[in-house]
Amino acid sequence: MREIAVFGGSSHPALTAEICAHLAVPQRPVLLKRFANDCLEVQLQSNCRERDVFIIQSLVRPVQENLVELLLMADAARGASAARVNAVIPHYAYARSDKKDAPRISIGGRLVADLLVTAGVDRVLTLNLHSPQVHGFFSVPVDHLHALRELAAHFRQRDLSNAVVVSPDLGYAKSAAAFARRLGLPVAAGAKERVSDSEVHITAIIGDVAGHDVIILDDEISRGTTVFELLDRLREQGARSVAVACTHGLFADNALDKLAAADDVTEIVCTNSAPLEAEHPKLTVLSVAPALAEAISRIHNGESVSSLFDH
Ligand code: R5P
Repeated sequence: MREIAVFGGSSHPALTAEICAHLAVPQRPVLLKRFANDCLEVQLQSNCRERDVFIIQSLVRPVQENLVELLLMADAARGASAARVNAVIPHYAYARSDKKDAPRISIGGRLVADLLVTAGVDRVLTLNLHSPQVHGFFSVPVDHLHALRELAAHFRQRDLSNAVVVSPDLGYAKSAAAFARRLGLPVAAGAKERVSDSEVHITAIIGDVAGHDVIILDDEISRGTTVFELLDRLREQGARSVAVACTHGLFADNALDKLAAADDVTEIVCTNSAPLEAEHPKLTVLSVAPALAEAISRIHNGESVSSLFDH
């Protein structure tokens, strides 16, 4: 069997180290240089020839820098005669750019997928894409995991006798329903319309939330605009308490502190798909390293990965 070689970009070294520890393989060194003209150069400092190469890079802030780094690492691995180049992208930020919803607008989700393949990526392992159709933007195989198992295990430790799962929008209602099924809970969803990056309207909640302990489930929290708008509707409808759960805790613009400051928000739960700059007593961070390591191991050994992403 071909040897595995795991490299990490600079976006999330802690997650790369954790994944390598679970795989019980060394993390291979990478040299990143920035020239006077601001161009980057990457050197993979371990043999790639005929290896099964995995490059771990989350597309988080600074997204463009991390993306170019990933592209250069893939190019370097391909140029070094890797047998296969696997990109492990715990957070694929451009997934939100997945449709032409305004004239003359770019569709970054598709473009970045093409760039990765052009750079030499043969296969992608990722987590909770903003919408399932983004999977189809890639012309190479994609293993698309979710974090519902980890999130559900966390909430099973809570008193769920009065709980309901609420998706902020209909787009994520299917995942919220799958999550609710895991917990044996009812589900509700907001009717959401996004006006801009910093403005959303939720005009109604479909389902019963009055007097319930709500678990909001979303794919990501960025500025928190969506969750704050949903909190307003939940308060109007008499929800008793609110826990907030998501896969990608990006928490831009101090969103974590703002959210935690709300008295009726009992806890905030996310995964470590993105590195967290802030901490808070109300925040719990669940690790996706075991799931990603398990997926990497199965991909490397040619085993089925589907049991990891079955809803
Ligand atoms: C968007 O539709 C997503 O599902 C999330 O709701 C969104 O990305 C969260 O962003 P923000 O926290 O800035 O509203």
